[in-house]
Formats: sequence, C-alpha cells, structure tokens
Amino acid sequence: MLDYPLLIVSAFILFIPAFIANPSAVVTGGHYPMDFRKNFPDGKRILGDGKTWSGYFGGSLIGVASGLVLFAIFHLADVLPYPVYGSSIGGILVALFAMSFGSLTGDVLGSFIKRRINIPRGGKGSLLDMWPFALVSFLFLFLFARQFFMNYYGNVIGILTILIITPPLHRAVNIIGYMMKRKDVPW
Ligand code: CTP
Ligand code: MG
Repeated sequence: MLDYPLLIVSAFILFIPAFIANPSAVVTGGHYPMDFRKNFPDGKRILGDGKTWSGYFGGSLIGVASGLVLFAIFHLADVLPYPVYGSSIGGILVALFAMSFGSLTGDVLGSFIKRRINIPRGGKGSLLDMWPFALVSFLFLFLFARQFFMNYYGNVIGILTILIITPPLHRAVNIIGYMMKRKDVPW
C-alpha cells in the first residue's frame, strides 16, 4: 500500500530546487540576452530581453545549491521513503543539475512559445509561465536521473502534485517579487 500523504509531501519537498531556480533568475539576470537580440523568421524576437545567460546559469546554480541544503537536511533526518536525489554524490549532483537546468530551460521554452503567439516580454502567459519549467524539469530528470524520477514521480501522484501546486505557488512568488520591487508586474 502506497503512503500517499508521504508521497505527496516528498514530491513537493524534493522539487523545491526547481521552484527556487526559476524565480532566482531575477536576482542574477539581466546580462547577455540568450537570443543575442536576434529575431525569429516571424519578425519577432526569438526570446526577448527577459531571458539572459546570467539569469539562466545563476538561477540554475542557485537551484543546485538549494538542493544540496535539502539533501543535507532530509538525508540526515531520514524521513523520506527513497534516497534523497540519489545514492552517490555523483548521482545527487546529476539529479540536481538536471532538475535546476530543466527548470530554466523550460522557462526559456515558455518564452519562446509566448513570443510566437504574440505575447510580449513580461506579458501574462498564464500556464505558459507556470508549467513548462516543471515539465522540462521532469523531462531532464527522466533522461538523466531516472531512478530518482521513478521513485518519487514515476507514480503519477508525484507529477500531479507538482502541476497542481505550481500555479498558486507561482502566483504567490510573483506577488512577493512585485512587493519587493524585484518585478514590475505581479505575475
Ligand atoms: N531573467 C533572466 N534570465 C532568464 C530568466 C529570467 O535574466 N533566463 C530575469 C529577467 O530580468 C526577467 C525576470 O528575470 O525579466 C523575470 O523572469 P520572467 O518572468 O521569466 O521573464 P519576463 O520578463 O516575464 O519575460 P517572458 O515574457 O519572456 O517570460
Ligand atoms: Mg514573466
């Protein structure tokens, strides 16, 4: 019998690096546009000025760092049902890099789609601002850290937990960012 409450809580806790990586790009971002200011054949910017290399790498590395803290806490507490991210330091790092870079790569994908459907940089993308980062994190985990992915997210409950929690969480983080004057708009 699966312990659903434990599975839901663990799926959420272990996904925190992906949740932290994405908004952390605001802190390090703003330098070196990822699309080198180039336009797509449709005449619009490929990504726009909201996606920069400094945000991409800074956010991802902050995600990895937060994951190491979570690992330290939950590995020592020994309360989770499977190994925390992995069972070797190499495996743990691969999982954290996959999850965090997946988060920022999904963010880029979301912006690419937004530009193609005429939503300007900073314009409200609704689910396009919320789900791509989680979905690409899952994809990278599936590709590079499959054992960890299967343990905690292979059961559809883990994935559903993240997809359901993401919109309200995203909204809350952006309202906080707006109040801290880190973001110009509360979405
Ligand atoms: N940011 C960055 N590089 C990234 C991601 C984010 O520099 N790879 C910074 C930018 O300053 C960006 C801010 O974080 O404006 C907020 O990120 P986000 O909401 O994802 O970007 P938007 O400006 O809303 O642009 P878009 O419409 O393309 O999502
Ligand atoms: Mg935005």
